[in-house]
Order: sequence, then structure tokens, then C-alpha cells
Amino acid sequence: MSIYILGIESSCDDTSAAVICDGYLKSNVIASQKVHEAFGGVVPELASRAHQQNIVPVVSEALRQAGIEKKDLAAIAFTRGPGLLGSLLVGTSFAKGMAIGLGIPLVDVNHLHAHVLSHFIKTEENDEVPEFPFLCLLISGGNSQIVMVRSPYDMEIIGKTIDDAAGEAFDKCAKVMGLPYPGGPHIDRLAKIGDPKRFRFSKPHIPGLDYSFSGLKTSFLYTVRDGMKEDPAFISNNQADLAASLQHTIIDILTDKLAKTPQLKEVRHLAIGGGVSANSGVREAIQRFCDNRGIQAWIPPRAFTTDNAAMVAAAGYFKYLSNDFCDLSLPPYSRVTV
Ligand code: KG4
Repeated sequence: MSIYILGIESSCDDTSAAVICDGYLKSNVIASQKVHEAFGGVVPELASRAHQQNIVPVVSEALRQAGIEKKDLAAIAFTRGPGLLGSLLVGTSFAKGMAIGLGIPLVDVNHLHAHVLSHFIKTEENDEVPEFPFLCLLISGGNSQIVMVRSPYDMEIIGKTIDDAAGEAFDKCAKVMGLPYPGGPHIDRLAKIGDPKRFRFSKPHIPGLDYSFSGLKTSFLYTVRDGMKEDPAFISNNQADLAASLQHTIIDILTDKLAKTPQLKEVRHLAIGGGVSANSGVREAIQRFCDNRGIQAWIPPRAFTTDNAAMVAAAGYFKYLSNDFCDLSLPPYSRVTV
């Protein structure tokens, strides 16, 4: 009998539901919240209200697109954390209510594990998956980590940001340039026509495998501030070069640490995940990095880079197969360390 898993994701500002059948994706519906654009960042209270409005239609649509009914589900997987607590509560409560109503098991999923396991979302067109152990560079709006992945349940964070995440550096610098939120995709677009060597921004010098992006943000801000003293139209006159140089520096910071990772010798595969892995420059650089070292690169389809429930369902499927279910009393958590 086919095993259908419903995944529910509500950790930040995307309400998403997906259905996988025996590991194969059947539907992945995402309602992105436009309400935050006017504020230049996610407003937690508005995010949870929008999740409340979206969750029922999004889940119904995911079931419809998968061609199944509620009664066909074997389990419900939901993002337990980390994320915004008010947002997580909507998905968690909904998943619990639905599981009780249907009398089926509930599977809690760590959002960051789900990003890593997004490479296990099989589709009719592509059902290849990475080989364990592999390294994963997890780069999103809230996290930048190098993860050693030994199995779906055994992941070790061997490097992490000590301040801002890579996505935050993209978004905050884009904000300085007056670009809309989230700025990452705008920087990506502009970088394609800019000179990556035109501006030099400072890079962190911290030992080990940890990342830091706050100094880069300051360096970017000072470059723009000084430039504007000479030329009030400095930003518009240099938009593409600023974007390309920023993106180039972020990629350098990311790949410099990866190159220093001792575990590179233990793996044959390297994956990237998280919203920033949608970046064209990052994708090309990681492909090159892996090609130069004879390692297989795993670059996710763009649809699976930002928050989505397909990855939650895929991560939940692993837990389902090992009967790793959660209790209905389990609360969501906002922080990484629980
Ligand atoms: O993983 P994600 O959807 O949300 C979490 O942080 O959980 O990542 C969002 C981040 C934002 O910072 C956004 O600007 C960035 O991913 N992003 C990009 C691109 N697409 C999304 N950054 C650079 N280039 C892109 N093409």
C-alpha cells in the first residue's frame, strides 16, 4: 500500500503544504505572504495571522493536486522549529488537530534538517539522491551552517555563523541600496550585469569553520556612505557593480571556509540548501568548487531552496519509516538549540 505523507511548513512567512507518496512528490503548494513587503522585513504578528488565513486552503489544495483525500494519509509531518513562534504555532496546532481527527501519527521535523533533506524529494523526472555521508552548506535568511550529514538522523553542525546569516547580508545590503525586501533575488539579478571586482568589502578573519557577515554589512554601508559624499547618485550610478561585488564577497566567504573543512576528505558529495542556494553566483561557484575537487555537487531545484513543505514531508518520511512519531503535547520551538 502506498504511503502518503502530508507535510506542513509555517516557520516564517510562507504557508506551505505538500504530499509525498513513497518518497515521490505529488504536490507542493506555497502561499507567500506579500503583507511584509511594505515593512522591509517579516512582521511576526502579521505572519501568524496570514498563516491562519492560508493554512486551510493551502492544505486542501495540496491534497487536491495530489489526487487524494484526507483519509488516504498515513501521517502528518510538520515543522516544529526553529522559526517564529507565532507562525510555528499555526502549523503545529493545525497538524495536531488534523492528526487527532484522522487518527494518524504525527511527525515533528526540524526546519534546518528539512532544508538539508530537501535533496531527498524525489520526482518522476529525477529520483537521484546524495550519498551519505555528505557535507551540506545550509544558507538561508536566518542561518549559515556547514553540516556533516552522516544519515537522515545524524547531522553535525561543524561551522555556523557567529552573527548574521548570509541571507541577512544580502537583504540588509540590498536595503541600504533601496531595493525591496527580500533583497537577495534583486542582488542576484543586478550582479549578472555588474563588475564583481569593482568594490572591495572586508572579509572576516575568524579561526575555524564559523562564519561572520556583520563586518561585511558595515563595510558595505561605509562604502555607500563615502560614495554618496562624492556623488549623491552613487547608488543608482553603481547599482550593478555594488551588487556584483557584494555577491562576489559573500561567495568568497562561503567557499573559503568550505575549502578549509577537514571533512571534505571524508565525503564524495556536497550539497547546498536554504534560500541563498537559489543565488545564481552561489550555484555556479559551488559547482566549480566541487568539479575542481572531484566531488559531486547537489544543487537543489530553485523551488526547493526557499521554505516549502515538500522538504518537510521528505524529512518526515524518513522518520515515518523508522516509526519515529511525536507526542501530541510536543510544543514548537523558536531557537535552534533545543
Ligand atoms: O530559506 P529561506 O526561504 O528562509 C529562511 O531564512 O528560513 O531564505 C530566505 C533568504 C532571504 O534572505 C533571501 O533574500 C534569500 O534567501 N534569497 C536569495 C535569493 N533567493 C532568496 N539570496 C540571494 N540570491 C537569491 N537568488
